[in-house]
Amino acid sequence: MSKIVSFINYKGGVGKTTLAVETAVTLAKEHGFKVLVIDLDPQTNATFYLVDEKHWEQWAEERGSLKDIFDAAIAEETLDIGNLIMENRFDCVDLLPSHLELLPVDLKLAGKWGAESSEAKMIIKDNLGPVIDERDYDL
Ligand SMILES: Nc1ncnc2c1ncn2[C@@H]1O[C@H](COP(=O)(O)OP(=O)(O)O)[C@@H](O)[C@H]1O
Ligand SMILES: [Mg+2]
Repeated sequence: MSKIVSFINYKGGVGKTTLAVETAVTLAKEHGFKVLVIDLDPQTNATFYLVDEKHWEQWAEERGSLKDIFDAAIAEETLDIGNLIMENRFDCVDLLPSHLELLPVDLKLAGKWGAESSEAKMIIKDNLGPVIDERDYDL
């Protein structure tokens, strides 16, 4: 059974990204947990903490990023989410990278399901749940 640990705060610059990545790496490396880092922030700082920009650019173009999960849901298309998960500079964790163009996704979601909809949460839950179970992530 996997656990989800979230690092969330409206305020910027308080250490969310640093703590998220360092916690993930420590739990994987020192404690042997199987960890997937999910970067939900359009600023993509956690992504660039783990992979260099050129590698990400190529990956996002050829394989995709978190943004493609929302785009596929909006277009009502299916997507192989496992295909989006990247190796990175730490062998011990996997990464689901974010995308700078994730920012307008809220507007696109509101256009389809209304501003008050909790569809974003459901899209994440419905799409990532099965991959997390399949790949047997602890965290
Ligand atoms: N424990 C810490 N001590 C000193 N500097 C830190 C610490 N944690 C983060 N930082 C630095 O503070 C800045 C903001 O951290 P970051 O993790 O990017 O915050 P957030 O994700 O909340 O915007 C970065 O330059 C980071 O290197
Ligand atoms: Mg951050």
